[in-house]
Amino acid sequence: MSSYPLIPPTTNFRQIEEQGPQVMVRGQGVYQWDDKGKQYLEGMAGLWCTALGYGNEEVAEVAAETIRELGFAHMFSGKSHEAGIKLGEKLREMLPVPEARLFFGSSGSDANDTQVKLMRYYFNAIGKPEKKKIISRRLAYHGVTLAAGSLTGIPVNHALFDLPLEGFLHTDCPHYYRFGEPGESEAGFTDRLMHNLEELILREGPDTIAAMIAEPIMGAGGVILPPQGYFTKLQALLKKYDIFLIDDEVICGFGRTGQAFGADTFNITPTTMSFAKALTSAYLPLSAVAFPEEMYQAMIDACDEVGVFGHGFTYSAHPVCAAVALKVLEIYERDDIFARAARTGRYLQNKLEKFRSHELVGDVRGVGLIAALELKVEKSGPKVISECLKNGLILRNLGDVIAICPPLIISEAEIDELLHKLEKSLDAVLG
Ligand SMILES: Cc1ncc(COP(=O)(O)O)c(C=O)c1O
Repeated sequence: MSSYPLIPPTTNFRQIEEQGPQVMVRGQGVYQWDDKGKQYLEGMAGLWCTALGYGNEEVAEVAAETIRELGFAHMFSGKSHEAGIKLGEKLREMLPVPEARLFFGSSGSDANDTQVKLMRYYFNAIGKPEKKKIISRRLAYHGVTLAAGSLTGIPVNHALFDLPLEGFLHTDCPHYYRFGEPGESEAGFTDRLMHNLEELILREGPDTIAAMIAEPIMGAGGVILPPQGYFTKLQALLKKYDIFLIDDEVICGFGRTGQAFGADTFNITPTTMSFAKALTSAYLPLSAVAFPEEMYQAMIDACDEVGVFGHGFTYSAHPVCAAVALKVLEIYERDDIFARAARTGRYLQNKLEKFRSHELVGDVRGVGLIAALELKVEKSGPKVISECLKNGLILRNLGDVIAICPPLIISEAEIDELLHKLEKSLDAVLG
């Protein structure tokens, strides 16, 4: 029997049985240390989430104070607390959703499950019970719970789990580098995808489709940026058929693209939005769903009819998580973190250009502080990541895509260190 007592998430069990886990013990700034004392530059911000890096004293202080003052209070049946209300007010000020109403949870997956449930509730409430299906994209990642996992379009997240559930549709992945046809322009690729999507909508019946969900940049699917004209044309198409757009900002939200939201970077006007990760800089788990006031108003009568709005988590708007989120948002604003990410992001993207000529690299892409190298030699992704670890650098391979997503506080000198270690690792694999 193995001495490791866990079922680790998204892991090959055979591999972990044979090799054992890598145990991290400490983090400071953009660095982490393992239990053997080895230092790593943490180039993935954990799982795209530790925007302010590790060991932030101000955040630690607020968490400790809140635990002493009001370690827990729930929001069921009319109860509330100051931290949750203030966080709702703050997000309302920041978000591009008109007079947003906020629902809090603990993870990106539960936020997207809430999106699905709110859509069902809303369309039942307004007397359109047939308008329920949700469209997502192949290679999208929206989480792993049953509904969010159905929205996800990555085969391993479906395999053996009997997913996706009924009512979840998947359309083309907008990855021009991989799925563009020979001789097809980027704009032509976008047009082909829109044509296929329109066919899907007509085949299913527009009156049966509630919404489409999209990440501004598809993160876990391979750091896929929208091709030319994509969101402009997508939004026009959805509008034509009265289909809502759910913007999954779980990775892009709060500065990742060098602006507050991915919606700002790609001119998206979403109906609703999902957040998690950088909302608390991952110091504590917290997610949020933003819904327009108009949709909320329509649900009030329905709620009367059935008794209560029967959805909520013990930890919805947990006061310690909410207080930490408020502090994190205050730091983003005070230290101008999004503008800083735009500046260091430009530095990173410029420096990455030189990797285009590397023999192992097929494509280089990114915006702000999220980027990827797509390798052209099959199965080289895991080898590069293993070399990176030897060189004291944590990155992540998504198949043969090497993702780069450092904390937003990374400096130019630290970016140089990251790229130097990455180049050394690519060279080692090539050699
Ligand atoms: C875009 C997106 N949505 C949702 C999720 C799910 O979040 P969680 O792992 O917190 O459930 C993720 C996680 O990486 C994500 O990248």
